Amino acid sequence: MDFRPTEEQALLRRTVREFAESEIRPYSREWDQAQHFPAELMPKLAALGLLGIQVPERYGGAAMSSIDYCICIEELARVDPGVALSVAAHNGLCASHIAQFGTDAQKAKYLAPLARGEKIGAWALTESTSGSDAAGMRTTATREGDGWVLNGSKTFTTHGRVGDVFVIMALTNRAAGTKGISAFIVSRGTPGLAPGKKEDKLGMRASDTSEVRLENCRVPADQLLGDVGQGFVHTMEVLDAGRIGIAALAVGLAQGAYEAELRYARERKAFGQTIARFQAIQWKLADAATRIEAARWLTYRAAYLKAKGGRTTLESSVAKLYASEMAVRVADDCVQIHGGYGFVKDYPAEKYFRDVKLTTIGEGTSEIQRLVIARHLLSRS
Ligand code: CAA
Repeated sequence: MDFRPTEEQALLRRTVREFAESEIRPYSREWDQAQHFPAELMPKLAALGLLGIQVPERYGGAAMSSIDYCICIEELARVDPGVALSVAAHNGLCASHIAQFGTDAQKAKYLAPLARGEKIGAWALTESTSGSDAAGMRTTATREGDGWVLNGSKTFTTHGRVGDVFVIMALTNRAAGTKGISAFIVSRGTPGLAPGKKEDKLGMRASDTSEVRLENCRVPADQLLGDVGQGFVHTMEVLDAGRIGIAALAVGLAQGAYEAELRYARERKAFGQTIARFQAIQWKLADAATRIEAARWLTYRAAYLKAKGGRTTLESSVAKLYASEMAVRVADDCVQIHGGYGFVKDYPAEKYFRDVKLTTIGEGTSEIQRLVIARHLLSRS
């Protein structure tokens, strides 16, 4: 067991960190306030390989490993968790679903423009009445002639308004339960596919989150992604990897918050000395550093096992649950250490505090992660 990063991994971290510091940090607050999706950043992310992180080279991707993927997401989240969320949804949900379950023709058609950043990926599962109960969806896809007709609506879709390539889950056989769900690739501009309301969010505001409406949206048969009825199981498999990405996002966010509180504690004086000299503050710093490291290794373990092949449902949920709840505590302490300055927008603490909450909700709430973990524990003989 070797816990040291390789030279390539250390270089990757430095490269993404420098990029995030120079190309993202100066604009992060502005994007947050305006709830602006930074389309102008996409070509720069693509040039670094960050829009095709794990896409195979033959489709123009960077073909990085699962651990490299975590490093990229971590370093983006350290500076701007909203940008990291967009990159995670584009790579870890949309491109990943096509890469894992698409035909050669689908991969050739969609993965290359996604990896080059010419097209933004979206992945639409959740509906207004089915979030945790993902199989409870109502959107339908009905076979008609040589294609499928989709009707319904999706909610909380990352890139719902700015996406170009949508992977959409729909019921193809209501009576078959989880075996009656299929996935489809739908391109922006397809008649019947329309962006709905853009959500006005608490945090992660640089990442577009919107409704997607489907009204008699006809797609040819070759837009079916995977076999008919396999959409739910494939979705769960995509989420097994996606949740590792959200764990990495939480680790990076917590790292950013920790660095901000450490900096502030060293500068701020009270009672004649810097507040870093008080044990009450030191314990918060020590707890944060310890918990971040623990979450990072749970995340890398899940990523390592994912790269080895085989199922990581348990490890992914453990990493996502621990990392996201850890990050909420770190962001909370970051505000607390900043005192009144933690409550105003001149300092980064309040943004981490708002952004972090999504990590315990998106790609499966903490409650769903506990449910998944408990099911695994109880099924062991
Ligand atoms: N890998 C492979 N197969 C899996 C699997 C996995 N991880 N998880 C479940 N399955 C299989 C099961 O084995 C079962 O197959 P069989 O019937 O052949 O045994 C089938 O899938 C159904 O599984 P369950 O009976 O466990 O299904 P369930 O209805 O009880 O749901 C759940 C399980 C874990 C609660 C699931 O619904 C879930 O993960 N919910 C949360 C969904 C979620 O994370 N949503 C957020 C999406 S992010 C988003 O939409 C916004 C965005 O843009 C980012």
